[in-house]
Amino acid sequence: MITAAVEASFDACEDERLRTVLQSLVRHLHAFAIDVGLTEAEWRAGIDALTESGRITDEHRQEFVLWSDALGVSMLVDALAHPTPSGATESTVLGPFWADGSPLREYGEAIFDSAEGEPAWVYGQVLGLGGGPIAGAELDVWQNDANELYGVQDDDAPEAHLRGRFRTRDHGGYAFLGVRPVPYRIPNDGPVGAMLAASGRHPWRPAHIHLVVSAPGYETLTTHVFDSASAYLDSDAVFAVKPSLLRDFVWSDADGRWSVENDIVLAPL
Ligand code: BEZ
Ligand code: FE
Repeated sequence: MITAAVEASFDACEDERLRTVLQSLVRHLHAFAIDVGLTEAEWRAGIDALTESGRITDEHRQEFVLWSDALGVSMLVDALAHPTPSGATESTVLGPFWADGSPLREYGEAIFDSAEGEPAWVYGQVLGLGGGPIAGAELDVWQNDANELYGVQDDDAPEAHLRGRFRTRDHGGYAFLGVRPVPYRIPNDGPVGAMLAASGRHPWRPAHIHLVVSAPGYETLTTHVFDSASAYLDSDAVFAVKPSLLRDFVWSDADGRWSVENDIVLAPL
């Protein structure tokens, strides 16, 4: 049968890992087509969706990553890379709105000049697995405003709106002033959005703040702080919620702002 012939066509591939991946991909793709009795029209529709995904993908919009996110592949690969919680803070998706070159900011600085959202003081310590503080760790943070948009999506927002990089102080402490994040829709005006609509799925993500935390000698961590009071925690469009990442935002009348404590534990390399 054709499946065996295609698999065999890779037998001479000298890169063993590449051979394994391609042969398995062929086996599973063929099994999928047989399983659903794939019609010619359906196959063409799939090709059209991929073609359109390529057409709308540019440096600001990555539809293929969105497919990976919305089909749960991003979180599956994440689980394969980090199989059991080790005591370190758990990872989750990077998403498409990280931007290179966020400004390095001072301890406690705001990540906005002016924002629509309610101010939120985000603070904590970066620690090693043994509990010791890590001084000089870098946190790269980004989040959306009350209009649902990340700075990179908002043509009216300044370049570094609601993003920044911070270094921990001697006791591993960090703090910045953000805003309380809100739930938002993943970009849904392309083929992924069409798939969600056709299948009756919603495009919403629960409110969160993104962090990438790095320090010499430790594994770089890509994670979120999820607002424990947010809608959509049990139906995230990209399946990225992990209960250990939920945090309470606490209102202070005296300070006129929210605050959220979020310690981060890094695993050694
Ligand atoms: C995000 O959290 O920014 C995100 C993640 C996956 C898809 C779309 C957005
Ligand atoms: Fe996000």
